[in-house]
Amino acid sequence: MTTALPSLALALLCLLRAGAQVSVQPDLDTEKFAGAWYVTAIASNCSIFLKMKDGMKSSMAIISFMPEGDLAMKLVLPLMDKCQKFELLFQQSGQAGHYRGAQEKRDVRVMETDYSCYAVLHEAHHSEGESSMALQLLTREQDVSPQLLQKFMELIPTMGLTEDMLTILPKSDQCTRDIRRVWPGKAVTPFQHGLD
Ligand SMILES: *[C@@H]1O[C@H](CO)[C@@H](O)[C@H](O)[C@H]1NC(C)=O
Repeated sequence: MTTALPSLALALLCLLRAGAQVSVQPDLDTEKFAGAWYVTAIASNCSIFLKMKDGMKSSMAIISFMPEGDLAMKLVLPLMDKCQKFELLFQQSGQAGHYRGAQEKRDVRVMETDYSCYAVLHEAHHSEGESSMALQLLTREQDVSPQLLQKFMELIPTMGLTEDMLTILPKSDQCTRDIRRVWPGKAVTPFQHGLD
């Protein structure tokens, strides 16, 4: 017991440090990051997510930035044979790539991206009932390479999550095909990645 205690304390310190040190893509180029992304994999310890994850399908996020750097995200996801849309606004928090939800206590970071293929988002959510965190793999194409998936899976334990909290979302055209109907007109101008 006496030897176990120091290592437990160390382990806890590591966790705290891991929580505090989520990296952000240096000098995030918001113009290159904007546009349409597929949400292809999610790992989260959110209890609602864990209950629903096996029924989820790939969704699409359209990201744009306000002149002052705030991030606007439009999400469209297939839920019960319908396309549900959500619009979320995040305020820039300190540096480009780090955002806070306006109403909810939600903290979003663009951990890394190569702009043209993938991005990893880190999301922490604090509510009275529970705190949870999530990692999301966003990709420009709906097909994701095994190498990229492998890279994402290696990130999961480093963020204190486990592989059973991961879901790789099955491909779905259900909503992406109809995206112009869901958001007609100007709202979809950030499309720059061949999704016409
Ligand atoms: C999820 O993980 C984070 C970070 O490890 C932790 O702070 C939080 O309490 C966890 N939430 C649940 C519901 O397990």
